[in-house]
Amino acid sequence: MSPENIEIGIIGGSGLYHLDNLTIERKVNPETPWGFPSDEIIIARASSGVKVAFLARHGKGHFLNPSEVPSKANIAALKFLGCKVILAFSAVGSLREEIAPTHFAIPNQIIDRTKGIRPSTYFESGLVAHTSFADPFDNNLIDLVYDLRNDFPNITFHKNKTLVCMEGPAFSTRAESNMYRSFGGDLINMSVVPEAKLAKEAEIAYCMVCMSTDYDAWRENSEGVNVEEVMKTMKTNSENARLLLATLIDKVHFSLNDKEGTVNLNSLVGSNRYSCV
Ligand code: ADE
Repeated sequence: MSPENIEIGIIGGSGLYHLDNLTIERKVNPETPWGFPSDEIIIARASSGVKVAFLARHGKGHFLNPSEVPSKANIAALKFLGCKVILAFSAVGSLREEIAPTHFAIPNQIIDRTKGIRPSTYFESGLVAHTSFADPFDNNLIDLVYDLRNDFPNITFHKNKTLVCMEGPAFSTRAESNMYRSFGGDLINMSVVPEAKLAKEAEIAYCMVCMSTDYDAWRENSEGVNVEEVMKTMKTNSENARLLLATLIDKVHFSLNDKEGTVNLNSLVGSNRYSCV
């Protein structure tokens, strides 16, 4: 049993810095062996009473660029609080015509195009293990989120998409954007790596709700992505994310605690097997 036993962690990305439809109980700032998390973690309750831990990935004033996010501390802090599930949110560019700005997409695959400069494993300094990363996201969690599309007819959802993670902070060139499309990428952001890897190592069920803000740089006769374009849809996306979360939190709580349920996330958490060499 962890000292806090807060089962659901939420990581908010660009534009999602607070959850004002939840009741805030207190804030904590646990120091981990990898330092402090991006910001204070907000412990809040949904209207049903379910407790969650919310962390703004880039800090509340967005003062951390993607390469500077202390992901090892973030995931360790959420684990320390008791999180069995992390619902991560991220603004993303779309590499496909059918995924328009304001659409939500839940990826099931990642192509890692970061530059290897982000600390991305807990297994080092004599602790050797190789975590399976073939399925980087929790498939049951993906289904749980995707099933919410019936409750939110105003939001268009996509699932089973491939998310490219680039280093940034500059956006892609047109040639890079087209290359990612030819690789099979559907979405692009700067945040899913190493967060998803570390969550896997920590045996926390993780999924990412990608909120499309732009068409990146691949479309002919379009200007190519810039911050102004990204900001335009961010407000709508964040409001939709907050509404979604109010329902999603209860569904995840039920899945974690309903022993008879068809989707019992508890059976998946802690099921990772490491092979040590
Ligand atoms: N985040 C939002 N839009 C993006 C894009 N086009 N590329 C990388 N990260 C993004």
